Amino acid sequence: MRLNKLLLLLTAFFLGAKVTLADVAEGEKLFNANCTSCHAINEKVVGPALKDIDKRQSEAWIIKWVKNPQAVIKSGDAYANKIYNEYNQSQMTAFPQFSDGQIKSIIEYIKTGGAAPAAAAADGVAPNGGGQATGEGFYSQTMLIGLSIFAVILLFIIFILVNIRKVIERIYNEKFPEEIDLEDVKLPWKQNKKSTRYKLFVKHPVVGTLAVGAIITLVLGLYGFDFANKKVGVQKGYAPVQPINYSHELHAGKYKINCQYCHSSADKSKQASIPSASTCMNCHTYVKAKEKYNGQVSPEIQKIYNAVGYDAEKGAYIEGYKQQPIKWVRIHNLPDHAYFNHAQHVKIGKVECQSCHGPIEKMKVVSQQRSLQMGWCINCHREAKVDVANNDYYEKLHKDLKASNKDFITVAQNGGLECAKCHY
Ligand code: HEC
Ligand code: HEC
Ligand code: HEC
Ligand code: HEC
Ligand code: HEC
Ligand code: HEC
Repeated sequence: MRLNKLLLLLTAFFLGAKVTLADVAEGEKLFNANCTSCHAINEKVVGPALKDIDKRQSEAWIIKWVKNPQAVIKSGDAYANKIYNEYNQSQMTAFPQFSDGQIKSIIEYIKTGGAAPAAAAADGVAPNGGGQATGEGFYSQTMLIGLSIFAVILLFIIFILVNIRKVIERIYNEKFPEEIDLEDVKLPWKQNKKSTRYKLFVKHPVVGTLAVGAIITLVLGLYGFDFANKKVGVQKGYAPVQPINYSHELHAGKYKINCQYCHSSADKSKQASIPSASTCMNCHTYVKAKEKYNGQVSPEIQKIYNAVGYDAEKGAYIEGYKQQPIKWVRIHNLPDHAYFNHAQHVKIGKVECQSCHGPIEKMKVVSQQRSLQMGWCINCHREAKVDVANNDYYEKLHKDLKASNKDFITVAQNGGLECAKCHY
């Protein structure tokens, strides 16, 4: 029957969509694990921005390149030599272990511009009962399932309605065989047989309902994806203009000032903290960058003086000045229902700042590098090992592990997928 075929088609469509999402998700995983130390999609890091790479080079070329860039350069490939020289002959790591399919999935991910929600991460069931844990594609996944169910219900309703109509028609015809054809009954929307409404909903009710369903599905779908990407606090790439043109590239990169000199509570508390202007003054009482501004104090550094009330001419603080905090715009921000603790990760977990914030020391302007979505936390917890050996906290655990002949456990196995650990 026709409805069955329709159902099949629809299922195939949703499965198809899911497979593409799965590819993208795998690509994102591989990209984040292997490429982000040197590449971003939209900006130059150590290597070029990879946006539109599929337009610059053929898939075959990219596959060859990623597997062994040095070989491509040595083969005399003009393009490879050009970028190699452009990037000061820095050597890109070779990835001979990747299959063609894996590299293609990375290309698929790059094509999405890095914003596409990935769906596949939800496949693995958490090892310790956190079976509901979802991946980065939380929204797209639920959305797809939701839409599929919606479509099936819709089809079912059509099926029933069409059948009811047939049954009523039959009973009516049997009871009053001499009566006029039901088609001729005058209902307002039946009078004009040429109207679209008549054609769609009376003559071909299935087509009509499907059309309406498709429109609703489309609108819901668009809304869903937008929702996932624009959600406050989980915005990748967010890089607001700050009140002072402060550069991490200069301070943390060029002058190699330790991150925790300024973000001093990162290893002690939940918050990493933003330094107060007085921390800046430790140096900027003296560092005025006058050479750059014809002997004048740098206007950006002057903003620090304005905040704390420092008179650079006199070299003294202005008495009775009402200090004003610098209004830095917050970039990383989890929703209130999620709990994240810096000390747990920096001190106990020994996770580098860069694993979560990207190469901050290369940024003139800080931008959010990771989605900060639940799937991102979970993915790392599945893979990251608890440093049991060098940790007083885990003395007992260490003994238990030794007893069971294991070297390590992952954060997940240590309870890092339990909802209550991250949710109030
Ligand atoms: C150690 C740093 C490093 C890593 C890791 C790295 N790359 Fe590269 N990549 C580079 C550099 C540098 C270049 C520029 C060419 C050169 O100097 O060899 C480059 C160039 C490229 C190009 C050509 C870009 C263009 O604009 O034509 C592609 C494609 C590429 N890399 C893909 C990848 C992928 C995919 C990964 C992860 C699997 C990766 N790279 C990991 C450093 C790296
Ligand atoms: C000299 C002080 C200083 C040093 C050193 C420094 N930072 Fe910062 N950091 C700041 C200031 C000021 C801001 C707020 C303005 C901004 O976002 O650029 C900031 C912002 C940030 C943010 C974004 C905070 C938010 O709003 O979400 C991150 C992440 C960060 N720093 C990480 C690092 C890391 C990692 C290092 C070491 C590689 C580092 N910082 C070194 C002063 C510093
Ligand atoms: C450990 C010392 C140190 C600390 C702390 C420090 N800076 Fe700097 N800062 C420097 C040095 C060195 C320069 C380079 C000056 C030059 O180019 O002559 C600089 C340059 C700057 C510039 C660029 C000035 C210009 O116009 O070129 C700005 C803006 C700035 N710092 C803001 C800040 C802010 C805001 C803080 C506090 C969050 C801060 N700095 C903390 C050492 C420091
Ligand atoms: C495991 C991942 C992870 C690591 C490691 C990490 N951060 Fe963060 N960071 C985050 C998350 C998530 C947020 C948002 C927290 C929130 O909204 O409650 C954040 C927020 C921040 C902020 C702004 C808000 C705040 O907490 O004051 C700064 C500054 C910051 N991080 C700096 C650092 C520095 C410096 C390091 C290294 C010493 C570091 N982070 C290590 C994940 C991480
Ligand atoms: C780059 C890897 C990484 C990322 C990303 C990450 N974590 Fe973790 N997390 C760890 C490690 C490693 C530990 C183990 C620390 C320890 O030894 O207790 C941990 C531990 C935790 C714990 C304590 C778990 C327990 O069993 O006591 C919580 C809670 C936590 N993380 C929350 C988060 C949240 C929320 C996010 C996302 C916003 C996040 N983490 C992202 C690596 C990560
Ligand atoms: C490792 C930390 C971590 C664990 C474990 C975790 N979550 Fe989350 N969860 C987060 C973070 C961070 C967010 C906020 C970011 C986002 O919306 O994806 C979040 C968001 C959510 C949301 C809200 C999505 C929305 O629309 O904002 C729900 C619902 C949720 N989690 C349920 C759960 C359930 C149920 C579990 C247990 C199976 C769980 N979480 C375990 C970190 C975690």
